Amino acid sequence: MIGFDRAGKRFGTLDAVKEFSMTIQDEEILGLLGPNGAGKTTLMLMMGTVYRPTSGKISVNGLDVVQHPNDVRKIIGIAFQDPRVDGILGAFDVLNWHLKMTTNLDKVEREDRVEKVLRAVDLWDARNKRTWLMSGGMRKKVEDCKVLAQRPKIAVFDEPTAFLDVPSRLLMWKMIRELRDEGSTVIVATNMMDEAERLSDRVAIVNLGKLVAIDTPEQLKGKTKGGEVLELTVGNGQEFPRECLTQFSEVQEVNQENNKVTVYLSGGRLLLPKIVETLTNRGVKIDSVHLKEVTLEDVFLNYTGHRLE
Ligand SMILES: Nc1ncnc2c1ncn2[C@@H]1O[C@H](COP(=O)(O)OP(=O)(O)OP(=O)(O)O)[C@@H](O)[C@H]1O
Ligand SMILES: [Mg+2]
Repeated sequence: MIGFDRAGKRFGTLDAVKEFSMTIQDEEILGLLGPNGAGKTTLMLMMGTVYRPTSGKISVNGLDVVQHPNDVRKIIGIAFQDPRVDGILGAFDVLNWHLKMTTNLDKVEREDRVEKVLRAVDLWDARNKRTWLMSGGMRKKVEDCKVLAQRPKIAVFDEPTAFLDVPSRLLMWKMIRELRDEGSTVIVATNMMDEAERLSDRVAIVNLGKLVAIDTPEQLKGKTKGGEVLELTVGNGQEFPRECLTQFSEVQEVNQENNKVTVYLSGGRLLLPKIVETLTNRGVKIDSVHLKEVTLEDVFLNYTGHRLE
């Protein structure tokens, strides 16, 4: 179990993480979802003993990260956001070295694991290619492979599928799930909604260094008002008459960002023609209308007032 108890990290005058409390259960995949600069990496690096919290406490399997950093490091593996692979070495040597530093495996076991993971992500043929000559996606895969080969009790992936193509993303998700199924606790930072939703058992929404909400994707969506979402694109530069919509009892909330209007409502299908008619009568130019089920994207917008784009 991992516990954040009012943890904070201050860089100069900036609170990168503030009063952050949450518990991560054993053998779950916890997705940290938030926009750029939300504090995801800072949270992970504090947990991994790279950064020292400036307030509060963080414990990993009962070990305080400040008091027992060496013990914590033994059970955690981190795939960093910016791959810190050693450019002079090839992928095989990078991973072999990583296992030498982080596990008690002997040479044969290490080489066996490295071969398996490199074959799985289709980098076996490129195993001797210097990592600084690799593409961004290939380098990212090598970074993820460090933790996938290490198989630590606590596995941390900071944006594991950034730069990866679609088949590689799906494969990486599958491999991360397998790690969880074998007994690892997994923490994944992402700014991609679909990744958070499809990969995580629970999602912690982070914004401006603070925990906004934490729950299963289904629960988070269930708690979002209404149940249906109407997205309207209206003519540019137009003052939007909110009261036109809030007069309907089925309309729970109206959010506007530039020319995008999001309406949370129940019974949307029945109300849709009425809404369009009312707005048109008020002279609002509607460029597009889209009615859909609540997604995690709406949850984020609903909690923070901003889109995750
Ligand atoms: N070493 C540092 N020194 C000063 N400020 C920092 C440092 N590391 C992070 N920050 C600041 O802390 C805030 C949180 O950064 P962090 O990297 O944790 O965000 P993030 O959620 O991981 O964002 P991204 O999605 O872009 O990776 C940002 O405003 C960032 O500029
Ligand atoms: Mg980050």
